Amino acid sequence: RALFRPIQQAAPPSPTKRHTKISVIGAGNVGMAIAQTILTQDLTDELALVDAKPDKLRGEMLDLQHAAAFLPRTRILASPDYAVTVDSDLCIITAGARQIPGETRLNLLQRNLSLFKEIVPPLARYSPGALLLVVSNPVDVLTYIAWKLSGFPPNRVIGSGTNLDSSRFRFLLADHLEVNAQDVQAYMVGEHGDSSVALWSSISVGGVPILSQFTKDVAAIEQGVLERIRKAVVDSAYEVIRLKGYTSWAIGYSVASLARSLLRDQHRIHPVSLLAKGFYGIPDDREVFLSLPAQLGRSGILSVANIQLTDEEAGRLQRSAEALWDLQQKLDL
Ligand code: NAI
Ligand code: 2OP
Repeated sequence: RALFRPIQQAAPPSPTKRHTKISVIGAGNVGMAIAQTILTQDLTDELALVDAKPDKLRGEMLDLQHAAAFLPRTRILASPDYAVTVDSDLCIITAGARQIPGETRLNLLQRNLSLFKEIVPPLARYSPGALLLVVSNPVDVLTYIAWKLSGFPPNRVIGSGTNLDSSRFRFLLADHLEVNAQDVQAYMVGEHGDSSVALWSSISVGGVPILSQFTKDVAAIEQGVLERIRKAVVDSAYEVIRLKGYTSWAIGYSVASLARSLLRDQHRIHPVSLLAKGFYGIPDDREVFLSLPAQLGRSGILSVANIQLTDEEAGRLQRSAEALWDLQQKLDL
């Protein structure tokens, strides 16, 4: 006996919206926070998880599948075999070593470089048209590595970069100014982490540029506050890692916001890690990835915003690029 009876004169299925598939590589703290945010926000029809630990992976898949009655309908798959990622629209890489308390992101490079040599080539083979979104640290250098290993055009290889640092920055500014963080427009750019650059000159709240609102004396006091906020942004991850061992929820929301802008072709501006040579005085021969405010859409990076930087901000960004470039020269790719 059929479970349902067909209706009379049903029209053939219309070619409605395109089937969307996201793969998340690494089912650890970060990968699972991203997966669950993507599911609750209904961003994909199919979600594939890959991890090197089969039992943990199957456990995570089942646990998410058991929430089916409370979530938008999404097919959830998992396997240690990259075949499960075939025909992905977006591949998000979170696999790899994470920092122990006090350790820098850059210290993870050699360990995660070896993993990327195992991860990126099969991803590129199974989904040659996909967007690659790198989250593992150190994210800027690993995004460069993913670009080289995938052979993809640079507009389709993106690092989550300072989208997260900028959210921390907006949270702290909003807290200080007693406004809503969503009304604060403020960017951290450059390297995700220790040498990230705060763009003071372009901060605005509800369209009001904040620095020009202060008289000279007040601005001097505020500069001190702003410097403390910048330092707090840089220290944020270290503090969370010291307290709970890892960071996960904020990066989950940060990456879901990027997935939405990319796959839904939103043309929104996000500071993300991209091939930065030629922008903001970074020389053309410096093939480095670092974060700049960019417009994101279905084909990846659409354009880079042309923000007016002070000489000091541009100088810091160029030094960040030079430091990443020096590091890349030592890589065995
Ligand atoms: P975790 O240790 O909880 O998870 C890592 C997962 O990667 C594990 O499940 C492990 O089995 C898996 N894995 C290891 N080698 C693999 C391989 N060859 N293939 C497939 N899976 C493999 O670590 P967590 O906390 O999830 O962090 C993951 C990465 O994300 C770290 O590098 C961390 O620094 C980075 N991260 C980056 C952020 C950003 O803003 N870019 C924010 C937070 C973390
Ligand atoms: C974060 O900033 C550790 O990169 C990671 O949360």
